[in-house]
Amino acid sequence: MSTAGTLDHAELEASARAQIAGASSTEQLTAVEQALLGKRSALKAAKQGLGGLPPEERREAGAVLQEVQHRIEGALEERSRELAAVERAALLADDRLDLTEVVASQVLSSLGRGHLHLVTQTRDALEDVFVAMGFVVAEGPEAETDWYNFEALNIPPAHPARGMYDTFYLDLGEPETVVLRTHTSPVQIHLMEEAVAAARLPIHAVMPGRCFRRDTPDARHLAVFHQIEGLVVDRGITFADLAGTIETFTSAYFGPDIHSRLRPAYFPFTEPSAEFEITCTICRGAGCRTCSGTGWIELGGCGMVDPAVFEAVGIDPEQFSGFAFGFGIDRCAQMRHGIADMRVLIENDIRFLEQF
Ligand code: PHE
Repeated sequence: MSTAGTLDHAELEASARAQIAGASSTEQLTAVEQALLGKRSALKAAKQGLGGLPPEERREAGAVLQEVQHRIEGALEERSRELAAVERAALLADDRLDLTEVVASQVLSSLGRGHLHLVTQTRDALEDVFVAMGFVVAEGPEAETDWYNFEALNIPPAHPARGMYDTFYLDLGEPETVVLRTHTSPVQIHLMEEAVAAARLPIHAVMPGRCFRRDTPDARHLAVFHQIEGLVVDRGITFADLAGTIETFTSAYFGPDIHSRLRPAYFPFTEPSAEFEITCTICRGAGCRTCSGTGWIELGGCGMVDPAVFEAVGIDPEQFSGFAFGFGIDRCAQMRHGIADMRVLIENDIRFLEQF
């Protein structure tokens, strides 16, 4: 570099631009800026050298230096913006979650894999028991017309039995015609209709699924709960077949020391009807608070298919007879695992769920 008077501005600017371009981070650029414009910079020295020049030359040289400085400042600013953009992009890339990343199996197993909910496990186990007894598994819709949920089951409008079911009505079609099913019994109607249409009797089926009642949840009830329905339709089916099926199921599912008993009851769609009780699984029949000292716990309802139901679906009650039963899957889980309050089934508390 020459003396102040004859300072090669072009050389100074070219060197400055090279240094600016060479800075590869904001931090480096700050250091470059310091070196180019700071107290000990060549530019500063050149400015100081102006003092030794005659006034006219000084003004001219000063103006040139000022311009060089402006251009260097401009170049610094531009590079600073470039580097900031690059650095921000790198930061975002660093923070990005790689959702396709393969997690090492040791990490995964330390997290635990999750499993089916107790109610789902219970449903599967109940299905297995009935499939082993020769039943097929069927399903039906959760929203039903009044006809499937009530009328075809021999519960006409204003029938007092409607009081047994606190019903959720859906705001569809005519008022009070579409309901969230209050039990799985309407699936019986679907199955019998299909069997008649396809001329495919007999029926041996179980029908698990969600049911809905406008009940306030308590220790033994949920507003959204699960039932499993059973239906057998064939020639010559008797109440003894029903009782035997219930007893076989009870000891297969709950264990050989748990038995069943049937007590007279009323359901519009079965005649005769019975309540189906099992040995209290808490006290094994000795009597305790859960079973109110009786040694028995109610699980569901059952009975012989009412001829009025057969007539509703077009099955000749002179030729065919059948039985049906329905009971709570959540109640089964509660009984089998000694769960004091059923509401834990819907609270999603991992400390409860991971025990099963
Ligand atoms: N559907 C009845 C209920 O939920 C139970 C039941 C099913 C009774 C089948 C008899 C026959 O209350």
